Formats: sequence, C-alpha cells, structure tokens
Amino acid sequence: MNFRPIALVSLMALASCQPTVNQVTSTQDNNPRSAAVIEASVESLLTQMTLDEKISMVHASGKFHVNSIERLGIPEMWLSDGPHGVRQQIERHSWNYAGWDDDHSTYLPHLTSVASSWDHSMAELHGHVLGSEARERQKDIILGPGVNLARLTLYGRNFEYMGEDPFLAARLVVPEIKAIQSHDVAANAKHYALNTQELNRTGVNATPDERTLREVYLPVFEAAVKEGNVYSIMGAYNEYNGTNANQSKHLVKDILKDEWGFDGVLLTDWNVDINTYDAAMNGLDLEMGTKVDSYDDYFLAEPFKNAILAGEIPVSVLDDKVRRVLRLQHRVGMYDPNRKTGQRNTKKHQQDARTIAANGVILLKNKPVAGDPVLPLAKSSLKKVLVMGPNADKKHGQGGGSSEVKSLYEVTPLEGIKNALGKDVEIITMRARSAKLSPIASDYIASRHWTGTPAWNIGYFADEALSQLKEESWIVDAQFNNDTAVRQHIRMKAKLAPLATGDHIFKFGLKGTGKVTIDGNLILNVASEDDYQEVQHTQALEAGTSYDVVIEYHGVDSVTLGWDAPGNLFNSESDYIAAAKSADAVIYVGGLSHGDDRESIDRKDMVLPFGQDEIINKLLDANPKTIVLMVAGSAVEMPWHKKSNALLWGWYGGMEAGNAFADVIFGDVNPNAKLPITLPESLAHTAPIMLDDYSAETSEYKEGVFYGYRWLEKNNIDPMFAFGHGLSYTEFKYSNISLSSDEFILDRDNHLAVEVTVRNTGKRAGAEIVQLYLNDADASVERPNKELRGFGKVHLQPGESKRVKMLLDQRALSFWDTASNNWKAETGRFDVLIGSSSDKILLKATFDAVN
Ligand code: BGC
Repeated sequence: MNFRPIALVSLMALASCQPTVNQVTSTQDNNPRSAAVIEASVESLLTQMTLDEKISMVHASGKFHVNSIERLGIPEMWLSDGPHGVRQQIERHSWNYAGWDDDHSTYLPHLTSVASSWDHSMAELHGHVLGSEARERQKDIILGPGVNLARLTLYGRNFEYMGEDPFLAARLVVPEIKAIQSHDVAANAKHYALNTQELNRTGVNATPDERTLREVYLPVFEAAVKEGNVYSIMGAYNEYNGTNANQSKHLVKDILKDEWGFDGVLLTDWNVDINTYDAAMNGLDLEMGTKVDSYDDYFLAEPFKNAILAGEIPVSVLDDKVRRVLRLQHRVGMYDPNRKTGQRNTKKHQQDARTIAANGVILLKNKPVAGDPVLPLAKSSLKKVLVMGPNADKKHGQGGGSSEVKSLYEVTPLEGIKNALGKDVEIITMRARSAKLSPIASDYIASRHWTGTPAWNIGYFADEALSQLKEESWIVDAQFNNDTAVRQHIRMKAKLAPLATGDHIFKFGLKGTGKVTIDGNLILNVASEDDYQEVQHTQALEAGTSYDVVIEYHGVDSVTLGWDAPGNLFNSESDYIAAAKSADAVIYVGGLSHGDDRESIDRKDMVLPFGQDEIINKLLDANPKTIVLMVAGSAVEMPWHKKSNALLWGWYGGMEAGNAFADVIFGDVNPNAKLPITLPESLAHTAPIMLDDYSAETSEYKEGVFYGYRWLEKNNIDPMFAFGHGLSYTEFKYSNISLSSDEFILDRDNHLAVEVTVRNTGKRAGAEIVQLYLNDADASVERPNKELRGFGKVHLQPGESKRVKMLLDQRALSFWDTASNNWKAETGRFDVLIGSSSDKILLKATFDAVN
C-alpha cells in the first residue's frame, strides 16, 4: 500500500500570509471556489514565485506528477488515466506498475457504450463513478473523456470514444464532464484534435479543410469547453497542417483559447513532437511524458527558461501557463480543506456499471423464428443452453493501452449467463476452430506489447539474410499477411507459454519460404517457393515453461503458425453442430478483443478474427435461433448478418458486462440503445479507404463534411446497420409532428421546438430514442442530406404515449462559412426529418428560415 502525501494548505492559511488575497476576498466572499477568490489567490501565489518555481509548474516531474512548491503550500498534482476507470498506479519515474495492492477501481463500460445509450443520465452516471473514484485515489486530473470521432473503422482507439457523430458526442460529453468535475477532480477532454488513426500516430499530418474541421472534428471539444467548462484538455499526438497539434497556433491559440475562451490547462499527450518556442507561444500549458533523460530537458523546462532569460519569449507567456495550472488546482479544491474525498469500488458503483452497460446493448436484429422473435429468452423455457465464441469467457479490463483498468472482478458473458440461469439449467460451452489454419491463440503468448496485449515482435528487413532491419513493430497473432505487392523479409519473435504438458503439433502454412525455431532449434523449414504449403512438426512442451519461438518468412503472400495443443481444446464440428441442434438456445459471443482494439496499432481489416464468420455461419445453419452477441469497440464485417435472426452488439461493457448482457438476453432490461457509429457492409465502403486517404504520412479528410452516415448516403451505399439503428422488445409508433412555428427568424437567441408523439404499441415497457435530422434544402453550399441536430429518449409503458420535444437553435441550422470564417445560417427551406434511425425517417415537416 502506498498513499500520496497530502500537502493541503487551507485557503485561509494561505490568505493569512498573503495580504492581497485578504483584500480581494473581503469578508463577503468566503467561498474558496468562487472565481474571485480563486483568481486572487492565483495572482498572489504567482507574484511570490521565482522563475524556477514557475517553470517547475509547466512540465512533469514524474510520469503522472507535476511539482509541488512546499514553501508556498503548492501541493504536488497527480494525474491518472483514463476514460473508463482509474488506471492502476504507475511508478513515479517509469512505466512499470507501482505494485500497489489497493489500486483497483470500478471498470466502467467504455464510452462507446455510453454513446449508444443516447442518454444524458448514463453519461452523468459514468462521470460520477469516474470522478468519485479518481478523487478517492487522490487524483487531481483524470485523463478522460476521450472524444475523438470514429472516422476510420480500423482506428485502434475507437473503443475509447463516443462514436462517429459530432452532435451526439457533444451532447453526451457535457454531462460526463460536469459529473466528473463535481467530485473535485478535473476532467480532461482528449485528444485535441484530429487524432483519428494510430498508424504513425505521432507523425501523421492531418489536413482537413476549415469547414470540415469546424463542423466535424471540433464541436465536441467546443461543447466540452463552452458548456462543460472542462478544466483541462489533452493535445493530440498527430500533426495539424505540418506542426504538432499541441503547438498549432490555429488549433490552440486562435480557436481553443482566443475564440472559445478556454481558461483551463492544455496538457500534452505523453511524448509529443514539439519545440519550445512554438509550444510556448501558441498556448501549450503543461508538458507531460516527454522521453528525455531528465525532467529539466523537457521543452518547457530549461530550454523554456533559457528562452525567457534570453528575451526570446516574454515571461508573461509563462505566467499565463502557471496561472492556468494554479487555477485548475484551486478549482478542484487542492487548497480547500473541505475538498471531496470520493468513494471507490462500492456496490453502488458496480451496480452503476451494470446499468450503463445494459443501457448500451444494441439489439440489431430480432426476427421471428417459428412464430416468435428469438429474443428475449424466457428463462423458464430453458433446460440446455450452448454458449460459444471467443468472447464468451474473455475479460477485457486490462488491455487496450493506457485506458486499462484493474478491477476487483470482471463478469464475463458466460458467467453472466450462468448467474442469470442458476444451477438448474445445463450450460454447455464449446470451442470451435475454423477449417483454415488459425494462428496460435494469444492466450499462449507470454510476451506483451506495452498496451498489455499479448504480441509478437515483428522485424521488417531489407535483405534475404535478415541483417538490415528497416522497421520493428508488434503483431498480435502468429500470422503475417503481406498487404503490399513487394516481397517481404520478416522475423517474428514471441515467448510461448504452453498451458498443458505434452505433444504439440506445430503447423506452418505459407506461400513463400520460411522457418520456425524453438529455443534456437530449427523445427520447420520451407525452402522451396511453391504454392501455399502446410508442413507440421510434433514437439513435446511443458506447461509452466516459456519458449522462445522465432518465425522467419520471405515472400509476397502470408505465413501462419498454428498448432494443436494437447487437452482437447477444440470440439469437433460434428459435436458443436449436434449440440447447437439439440440446445434450447445457442448464444455465440464473438467480436474483437484488445488484441484488435488497442492503442498504437490500427486493425488491418474489418474481418472477425479466428475464422468466426465460418463458425457463425455453421451455427446459423444448424440452429436459426442462434443468438450472436458482438463484443467489440469498432465496426466489423458480418457477412452472415442477413442469415442471422437475433443479433446484439454489446461493446466492452466493463466489470459487470456479463450480468448486463444477460439482463438484455433474458429480458430483464428491454434494449434501448442505438448505434453511435455506422456499421458498413465492408471496409471498402468507408470514406478513408474509398478515397485512398489512409496513410502514415497525411490524412486529408477528403470526404470533408460527408462523414460517417453522411458519406454512405451521398454515395447511395446501404450500410449493414445504419447510424442510429437499434431495436427494442416492444414497438413504437411515431405520429403528430408539430413545429412551434413554420418560420425561424434568424437570431442567435431564437429557438424552434419540434414535437412528436411516440406510442408504445407493444406489450413491454421500453424506451425509444427519437432522432431529429435536418436538411437545408436551399443551402448555397453542398450540405449532407441529413445531419443529426436533436434527439430525445422517452420511456413508455405498454399503450402509453408521450410527446417528445426537441429544440433547434440558429447554430443547428448553420454550416461553417469559409468566406466569413464563421457559422452561417441561411434563409430558405429546412426539412425536419424525424427517424428511429438515420435510414428510417418516419415523419417530416418543414420551416423557413427568414431574416
Ligand atoms: C495516450 C493518452 C494517455 C497517455 C498517458 C498516451 O499514450 O495517448 O491517451 O492518457 O498515454 O498514459
């Protein structure tokens, strides 16, 4: 156990040695959090600080620490990841875990799940748990929420964010931030801005045009600042128009600070490519995580001080940064003896995690088979249930990178199903494997990528002899697919840790030449470059020992190392098909894991790993009532979706995921979530791929404002499941659209109310998310056919009707006008489209915007 030394100095004590504070606060204002008191105290501290002390406040003094100044009673500031729980403690000066035994915290459903609820109260609940737990762990800044948008389906970090739509994410980020900050800890909206791929994340240059930037990528941050009053923001790794985002004059100084009036702290992501002058002058406040030997070598440390002493940068620039850091510290109560203390790992927080997860599960399909819809399953009708799939019993909390969470427990889907059904129902679990050679499962790989994901180190060489290393990286599976036309020379290395002792049959499948060694001994060698070949070798291995396995490959195609491990790990096809036919219910829990959804690497494609498509297809043929539950953080291709009758999407649902999924499967919770992303049929339908705009060098954002669902609509491509889609166990009827006026007089303070009636026409209580899309029929610029501009969630008993009211303001009508460099709402006709999803518009009305 290790606790943070608390160096709290009460504002009163501080005030007593600082006459200026006493003067400004006067006797009427004793609230230590009032703006006047805070600003007076900040100024007072600032005037007493030496140059060195000021400099020490604008860069890190530990992995997640900022310096204390004891003589002035300024405490050390503590930061921590991340968006879905407080990360386990990291050592002060290294990335190793600190080894605390009391740094568990509630592992919350990911923000994708919150976004699926389209529900302010879920965002609020999420924020309350995160904020309270961060405070209990004595953090001052919690590094979340993550709010970059899911532009690229392959992006490794989609799972951390709030989906693809700027409006939806902006509406939900505000309650999330307010709730976090109500616990006396600063939220941190990250990563500002345009962090939409992991491929060369620290070097890729984002160059969207100004309209795209303003309409798509900035509104969430804008809402975080203007409405959420977020105390801190993290800059992005990538470049923007040729310079690192943290030091971009346009993004930081001009927009974030001057235009939006952000008065909090802009801190860097951990180790960004900046320089002292630009970072200092353009508005970066706090530098974290830079990979240098001494904290004095940070760009905002000695080099900054020297630039000030040399007269190259005025000291007022430093003062502004220190002021912001001190302001944040006051805002979160670091000088208030009555600062909140937070709570952690409470039953209530665990229950909240379950509630949020259940409210984020999307029912994508629920067709009748032999009369009735497959879902929900009636517990009483079940005697035998078959549960399969790679995510059936998988935990996800401690993977993915910086957003990992060490929780006290994590209920897997299988455990949740068992908890729900009790002992009287027989639950059969089986593991299937695809007919195609599968790579050795990551469960056996002891070597780890820094994100915690089991991984192989892969080296790319310039020569056949593997002597000139070009590049090194990580790959999760024992499989390499060459996606270039160029012959590759690669070496993959991993530590393999068998789970059972006995004969393991290694299977090597490749087109090209290659070999495999174990602890330096050659076991497989393919020297002739024929068509695809598969060779095998039997090797005795011991459980509890780890072996160095090396694969070498030369060729233009692919190589896979698979195996048969002892212990009947996989059931035969005939066994699982027979079980699927005879079971009362079949639940397949598939999707991705943090082997795929993870920081620092994008996925290669949208295909489900481990040949899941093949197994799901077979199960659906054997039993059309098979329920497929996807657990994933970003879109996947589901080529069998037309054949499936019951399909759920559950996201990474936190520590109570399994119970929450069971709540939905067995009908204790009626699904009430909708997709916050588009699920396209295939990767080939997505804008970055269609426009050849995904590369390590530049992201031009060529699709412009035709982003996400707007892209598919513009190109007349049907999605697999549209943005906003999600079903319920009951049904809803929409009627009676009304507008408060058929004219909108263009004025910043004007509002137009749109109301519709929603009736629950089914037999269960449920909730519907009504969506309002706007179409600017007379626009002078090209605009998307539909843009989400409102939504409302309504809970209804069977037979009940309610009016749902949504408000439009002038900004909702506007586009970013590059001529005036401002938002512009034009006169003319607007169509109000009310839908249950972006592709199911049920009601329409029009109004005219007039001057
Ligand atoms: C991530 C941030 C994270 C930081 C600190 C970076 O790699 O991009 O999101 O907060 O590390 O762990």
